[in-house]
Parts: sequence; C-alpha cells; structure tokens
Amino acid sequence: MPMIHVVDKDVTINAPAGEPILFVLWDNHVNITSICGGNCSCGACNIEIVDGLENLPEKSAEEARVLSRIKRQGPNVRLACQSIPTGDVTIRIVPEE
Ligand code: FES
Repeated sequence: MPMIHVVDKDVTINAPAGEPILFVLWDNHVNITSICGGNCSCGACNIEIVDGLENLPEKSAEEARVLSRIKRQGPNVRLACQSIPTGDVTIRIVPEE
C-alpha cells in the first residue's frame, strides 16, 4: 500500500491502490481545494511532488494542459486528482513561497 507523506501538514497516510491522491486526502480529512470535484479541469488541486515522482504515472495531455493554463509548470507539479501513486510519495499541498 503506497504511503503519502504531506510535508506541509505533517501527516502520513496509507493510500488504497488505484485511488487518486485527492480522494485519499479527503478521505483522511486533509484539506485540499477542488472546484471541479476531481474532473481534471479546475487546476485547484495542484500539488508539488517533493519525492517519489517515479511512483506516479506520466502526466496526461489533459493534466499538462490544465497545469499550463494555471501557470503551475515543471515536472514536480501535478494535479492531485490525476495522480494515482504506485509507491510512496512525498507531497506539498501549499506551494512554498
Ligand atoms: S480537482 Fe479540479 S483539476 Fe483536480
């Protein structure tokens, strides 16, 4: 079972296989904003992958398009609703200033 460590909340969560990070966070009462409800359209669920990027699938064209629209680019920035971990990941929900 993958572990999700959220550095800015100082919590570590067991993620059920096949579950997007967004829903795992919600299920564990970790606050993360979403406007579209996980439909890969609002971009509000963007997160920074601090470690374990290799445990996420490649960005889809759709995910890359949304991230580009909200100007949150770079290999480590992902949408939590589109990120299904296959191994441990460390994330940051709120971007570092
Ligand atoms: S929740 Fe809207 S893009 Fe992920």
